[in-house]
Amino acid sequence: MLQRTSGAYSATQSCWSNADTSFTDADWWRQAVIYQIYPRSFKDNNGDGIGDLKGITSKAGYLQALGVDAVWLSPFYPSALKDGGYDVADYRNVDPKIGTLEDFDEMVASLKDVGVRVMVDIVPNHCSDDHEWFQAAVKAGKGSPERERFIFRDGLGENKDQPPTDWECTFGGPAWSPSGANDGQWYYHMFDSSQPDWNWNHPDVREDFLKTLRFWGDRGVSGFRIDVAHALVKDMSEPLPNWADLSKLTYHKLQNGNAGLIHPLMDRDEVHDVYKSWRRVFNEYNPPLMAVAEAWVAPDRQSRYASAEGLGQTFSFDILLCNFNAGEYRKTIEHGLKASEESKSSTTWVLSNHDVIRHATRFGFPDVRNENLPIAVHDYNKLVKAGKAVDVETGLKRAKAATLLILGLPGSTYIYQGEELGLQEVLEIPDAERQDPIFIRTKGGEFGRDGCRVPLPWSAGGAKNFGFGDGQKAHLPQPEWFDVYAVSEEDKDSDSTLNLYRKALKSRRILQGEEKLEWVPGAPEGVLHFKRPNGWEVVLNTTKDAVDLPAGEVVISSTPVTEGKLPAETTVWLRNN
Ligand code: NOJ
Ligand code: CA
Repeated sequence: MLQRTSGAYSATQSCWSNADTSFTDADWWRQAVIYQIYPRSFKDNNGDGIGDLKGITSKAGYLQALGVDAVWLSPFYPSALKDGGYDVADYRNVDPKIGTLEDFDEMVASLKDVGVRVMVDIVPNHCSDDHEWFQAAVKAGKGSPERERFIFRDGLGENKDQPPTDWECTFGGPAWSPSGANDGQWYYHMFDSSQPDWNWNHPDVREDFLKTLRFWGDRGVSGFRIDVAHALVKDMSEPLPNWADLSKLTYHKLQNGNAGLIHPLMDRDEVHDVYKSWRRVFNEYNPPLMAVAEAWVAPDRQSRYASAEGLGQTFSFDILLCNFNAGEYRKTIEHGLKASEESKSSTTWVLSNHDVIRHATRFGFPDVRNENLPIAVHDYNKLVKAGKAVDVETGLKRAKAATLLILGLPGSTYIYQGEELGLQEVLEIPDAERQDPIFIRTKGGEFGRDGCRVPLPWSAGGAKNFGFGDGQKAHLPQPEWFDVYAVSEEDKDSDSTLNLYRKALKSRRILQGEEKLEWVPGAPEGVLHFKRPNGWEVVLNTTKDAVDLPAGEVVISSTPVTEGKLPAETTVWLRNN
């Protein structure tokens, strides 16, 4: 019988039983599969067109059958939804549009019953302009202690009607907005104008977030995903650099040692003091809470965010930025493994999330790469606008192969709702129905991220809203072609993407052991071949031609393997023991 620390695989039952519902394993996250739920687009239980917590509870069985270890919920807090909930008005409550705290407790309990842990999203860089502390700051006026909790500065010019710097915000347009009190003051926002940045040099801010962490820890969550974890602490001392210099320092180059410029807003060393204080809170729990940083920083800076004295794990988005290319994958995998050795954390693999074009669609476009852009979505927007068609078949084939590659690697994998259905990005949302501030702030220049946030199709065959909710229309329009990807259809098709994911997640529990891999020498050009300590092998053929299949029993393959050949653009797991 093959075993792992929690649960047990039974060959006779041929199903995974999530036997461990005690949640005592402190290392559960190291090689976990974590399923990201974008709550308002997962399942609408009360028919108002918006996904809700009760909807998630109703799908506990689905998540169990999929075989995930945990779910991470994108924000479900009270919010005006100017940025899909990442504009938080109250960190310790549930948006009434999504449910109540009682619904949250019920959801945590139901998921625990089926062995699925819950992680929540913490958004510490900024809040919503509806947050009571921001409202108080505007009201209290210039020079007040309330304003100190945010980043207010006087405007430039005689009438102070020009922003304090020429900085741009991440979503396009200026990074400063007038205070609203007609006093010549402006507040800084890294994202939308509805998202004022906190002043992390203020003790009230630090204290309040510790309170928030304990609030959710006490409600039974197992961990946190930390939004824009590399921002928070800023150096706003004068003179502030201009935008032309700052904007050169993105992703790979936030620290420009040669030019002596350290980014005043991002990836500053001081941010790790904050996370040390968070770690003390995490360790108040038994087992300790875990956290994963969303930190778009250069590969050689990533391991700092994964330190055991800090958050403990960080996303690496490097594999998400790779083309479907063996060389790029190998380099990224080697770097990821080295970084996790340094930090003593585990590697993380991500191909899709709520901020990027779904990978089944990304891989259906011709290869593109722009190293200066952290979120590949910009590139694809250009391709769509240039009328480039998506090759859906190729996209899905490559997506399945890339997914089996990352699931075969040591470390944890984060999957995004709908990717288990092979869901494509919805590119055809009418302008009037788009919600993303990126679309709004760029005046349609960029589509933004709504296309990967369209509510999931649960049922085909004419079900209202594809089974997402049986009342009002889904809050983002679902296209007709969703029928093909509906859970009801894929469930009964043994060759569906959904059943591939289920099988892979189940088999992976045997594959995972020591967090190591060994490259098998002699793989042809364009082919990756590695062995895990338990003897299983993973082979990815990125080329357009079939290659010889190495020896071993096929455990799973992303497209059918025949006559000793590994087909084009396919991953296979082999076992030789
Ligand atoms: C990263 C989140 O993933 C994204 O959705 C959000 O818009 C920004 N942070 C701002 O919170
Ligand atoms: Ca609802």
